[in-house]
Amino acid sequence: MNFNYHFTVMKNEAIENLNLKKDGIYLDATLGMGGHTYGIINARQDIKKIFCIDNDSDSMKLAKQRLSNSKSKIKFIKGNFKDIDKLIDEKVDGIILDLGISTYQLLNSKRGFSFKNGNKLDMRIDLNQKLTANEIVNTYPVDKISSLLKEYGEEKNHFKIASEIARYRSKKKIATSDDLTKIIKKINKRSGMIEPSTRTFQALRIAVNNELTAIDEFLMKSDKILKRGARLVIITFHSLEDRIVKKFFKFSESECDCPPSKMICSCKKKQTLRIITKRPLKPSSKEINLNPSSRSAKMRIGEAI
Ligand SMILES: C[S@@+](CC[C@H](N)C(=O)[O-])C[C@H]1O[C@@H](n2cnc3c(N)ncnc32)[C@H](O)[C@@H]1O
Repeated sequence: MNFNYHFTVMKNEAIENLNLKKDGIYLDATLGMGGHTYGIINARQDIKKIFCIDNDSDSMKLAKQRLSNSKSKIKFIKGNFKDIDKLIDEKVDGIILDLGISTYQLLNSKRGFSFKNGNKLDMRIDLNQKLTANEIVNTYPVDKISSLLKEYGEEKNHFKIASEIARYRSKKKIATSDDLTKIIKKINKRSGMIEPSTRTFQALRIAVNNELTAIDEFLMKSDKILKRGARLVIITFHSLEDRIVKKFFKFSESECDCPPSKMICSCKKKQTLRIITKRPLKPSSKEINLNPSSRSAKMRIGEAI
């Protein structure tokens, strides 16, 4: 397996901002092809341990091969990062969260994430899960499909596309990504750089994997596992993810959660994080030239207090 198959996004920025230290314990909550973990271990061979989580057992198998020389330092955990409180039992000195899916998953035709390779619609990160994209497009009511396209894809033609999906499936099952892209192209014409199907496929992937709830749950639990001074480094790839992280950072940095109408604070909320990046970091133009799909990445960094 060629690990250039997935370019690790903003690897140097992640390593630099994790403030790695001797005997430190780290968490890579989105192991993928192991790129960030590989970088961390190479940058500081004297770290004590790194927990590596991924919900995709295929990816984990490949990452284990890549990281076989360092396995004494790594604890591999197959699981959903939203369950972080049950997956690890130690506080850590830093967390890297590189959201979404890897190029390996996107281009693996069996996984059905891409609109480009005409395969069956699946989109599950966790292959033990039941719900697939196929089930959503073939069984969900029009209104439900419409609202998930709106909410998770910010697709302005959400209702028209959902209605076209219903029209098609009343005659024939929607079996492949080609079927779905043909349906979408009846409504959306190509405009600029954005493919007509991009937003619908994003929405389906988020819905299948309940991605936004997982990020929210992970973040809300993160202060329990971060040691004082530990860094939380998060890379997002679209505005829905970034909005959640930004909101969480603001909430964690604030010392009051009372409604604006309250003149005197009574909530007793404490600040748990200091925001390091007032504005998110972006990949360098050199990185974007090498890996154009990194162009939408944003990195936000917080420090536990
Ligand atoms: C962008 S890739 C990470 C790539 C990795 N940093 C690298 O450089 O090789 C994101 C990974 O997170 C995993 N993932 C996404 N959501 C997850 C979740 N809720 N729990 C656990 N893993 C998840 C995906 O399966 C995927 O392998």
